Amino acid sequence: MQYYNSDTMPAPLHIQNEGSNTHHHARRLSIADVTKEDLSHGPTVIVPGSPSVGSPTSTTIAETIALARDHLEHPAETQEPAVEFEEDSDDVSENSQLSNVVPDYVFGFDLDGVFLRGGNVIPEAKEALRILNGDNEEGVKVPYIFLTNGGGKTEAERCLDLSRQLDVAVSPEQFICGHTPMSEMAAQYHTVLVVGGEGEKCRHVAENYGFKDVVTPGDLVKWKPSVCPFRKLTDEEYANSKERDFTDVNIEAIFVFADSRDWASDAQIILELLMSKNGRMGTVSESHTEGPPIFFAHNDVVWSTSYDLTRYGMGALRIMIEALYKESTGKTIDVTTYGKPSKATFDYATRVLQQWRKDLFDDPAPPRTVYFVGDTPESDIRGSNEYDEHSESDWYSILVETGVYESGTEPRYKPRKTVRNVLEAVKFGMERERRRK
Ligand code: G3P
Ligand code: MG
Repeated sequence: MQYYNSDTMPAPLHIQNEGSNTHHHARRLSIADVTKEDLSHGPTVIVPGSPSVGSPTSTTIAETIALARDHLEHPAETQEPAVEFEEDSDDVSENSQLSNVVPDYVFGFDLDGVFLRGGNVIPEAKEALRILNGDNEEGVKVPYIFLTNGGGKTEAERCLDLSRQLDVAVSPEQFICGHTPMSEMAAQYHTVLVVGGEGEKCRHVAENYGFKDVVTPGDLVKWKPSVCPFRKLTDEEYANSKERDFTDVNIEAIFVFADSRDWASDAQIILELLMSKNGRMGTVSESHTEGPPIFFAHNDVVWSTSYDLTRYGMGALRIMIEALYKESTGKTIDVTTYGKPSKATFDYATRVLQQWRKDLFDDPAPPRTVYFVGDTPESDIRGSNEYDEHSESDWYSILVETGVYESGTEPRYKPRKTVRNVLEAVKFGMERERRRK
């Protein structure tokens, strides 16, 4: 198995600039009336209230990160200065908000098990963000980004959900998901199988990333129900699945975007393709060397839900696929996994934060300290600790007890600090910075 390790990670959203070549403002859109369409046009911040009636304090952080990410991914279109507020009354207040933004440390957050659990907001989450957004003794605002292995929706949809749940301004550009780097492969593979997620959502994510010909397991079952003898498509699935003859279609790559909703039939199809001649259904490669490559959005074996115990996730499907491939062929299959703890995810976060500091403080160095808060030792703590070994920034890992990690047990990868929840993590990091100064 290999971790994805590219130096570049492209934008999850295909940002189109309308007219102007330079963005000085991210657009503010209200949760109440934003559409998916709106979210595909340049750096954007979703605000919980009305964007015209003032903005929550968190807008400043979300907006400057949105701009930084846009500038990072469209450097040729950016003129200096990258962040510039006009001298009207609103922008004067923006400037005074910006003067309180701390320049040298930031927070990176995992989502599931830190802010959310089984779709519910963890009680301390809102207060943690309020503090970062300026509700603290010094009135300082501390930037933050989200690095989640989760997915199955576009970054924009995820951002809408989170803004609603946490009642805070969030920008899609603050999100780096497990499947974000998969967009880079859209130029390389034409016909791809996309596995996982609810209904047609992952097909849409893949199309949004630029994949030209996206096949789902549902399309293959609709073509020949006997491919998966025990899977019956619901009426809705049948209607949404594409009518197509796969006799002459070569599937060039397999992408597991999100957790499988039907392991048996998804595994059946994945294994058939891995053992096929050039990704053509119904064929068998005698050498077992002619199948398409397979990519997983992350490698979390377990994750934290609303149930008391952890549940198996995408990493467990990966183990199952590898075991069945070995059982069937006697060989080892080479798989690629993205997401934390892979270096690319942390590299990309560093570049966004570096660009953010360049925009705001004209300083090209990355932040001095990144407090990285997660619940899973194997992905969050491992990733942060390993990245710290060769990073210019000090990546300070903080483990919380609201998710995968169980209080009182010995984590496989040791954090620099363990706290009960995200609120304690934020207070700890900010207090450490106060003492340092
Ligand atoms: O399926 C997603 C889960 O494995 C982890 O998500 O936000 O904890 O990285 P997150
Ligand atoms: Mg987590």
